[in-house]
Amino acid sequence: MRIKTGIEGFDPLVEGGLLQGRQYLISGSPGSGKTTFSVQFLAAGALEGEPGAYIALSESVETIRQDMLRYAIHTDDLEKKKKLFFIDLGPSANYGEYDEITNLITPDYQQQQGESRVNTPPTPFSVFKEVETQVKNLGLKRLVVDSLSSIRFTSQNPASEERSIGRFIRNLKNLGCTTILLSELTKPDAYTIEQFASHGVIFLHNFMDKQGNMVRALQIIKMRGTKHDCEMRAIEFTDKGLKVSKPIKSK
Ligand SMILES: Nc1ncnc2c1ncn2[C@@H]1O[C@H](COP(=O)(O)OP(=O)(O)O)[C@@H](O)[C@H]1O
Ligand SMILES: [Mg+2]
Repeated sequence: MRIKTGIEGFDPLVEGGLLQGRQYLISGSPGSGKTTFSVQFLAAGALEGEPGAYIALSESVETIRQDMLRYAIHTDDLEKKKKLFFIDLGPSANYGEYDEITNLITPDYQQQQGESRVNTPPTPFSVFKEVETQVKNLGLKRLVVDSLSSIRFTSQNPASEERSIGRFIRNLKNLGCTTILLSELTKPDAYTIEQFASHGVIFLHNFMDKQGNMVRALQIIKMRGTKHDCEMRAIEFTDKGLKVSKPIKSK
């Protein structure tokens, strides 16, 4: 089944919407529109009876709330109705009960004396366990994880980091939510585990053209099981959020 993203001009590019229950990656530099796209996606779900959560790992949920109130997306109403949740799992978030559980199951040799998970960076595993609990408790159907980049650099060993990110995405697949993973890694030719493991990859570009004008664009790189548009398309910010429009002609 295909579900609406709530982004004007986007759904027709992907045969009418995203496939329910799948994982999508949105990559783009800071300020390229990832948060706006994702919040529109959650709000569209909330209006269609699919509660959703924005899992914030790097930025405070207060900042995101304030930024989104600029748009006519009515995130505050949706939050009050318990259809939309902003969940802070950043480094300073208190994991509450989960703390005690991990302390119980973490072998001694992995635990330092007196170590607390408060103020320790979230890891793919800690984030997954917390998200799993929230999906069950809140009946979530849509998820946004902002961002993979913030749980990527938690291991000293690149190979084990790749494995744990791969495992994180596979675990999320079992939760049954339609999920958008955000990433600041922007090299289209650097094929990362998150690109392989996701069902779809969307790039948000944000660059200066030869005349010095700021160009914003969206491009669908991959979308499994879907005949999709491949053009680099201009995006603009309206009072409702992002809007996808015409292909950008290369000069
Ligand atoms: N009302 C607006 N009109 C035009 N651009 C805006 C408006 N509000 C925000 N923006 C742009 O959106 C950017 C932030 O988008 P955001 O979705 O937070 O990006 P990301 O999550 O990728 O960092 C800002 O840097 C700004 O360029
Ligand atoms: Mg953001």
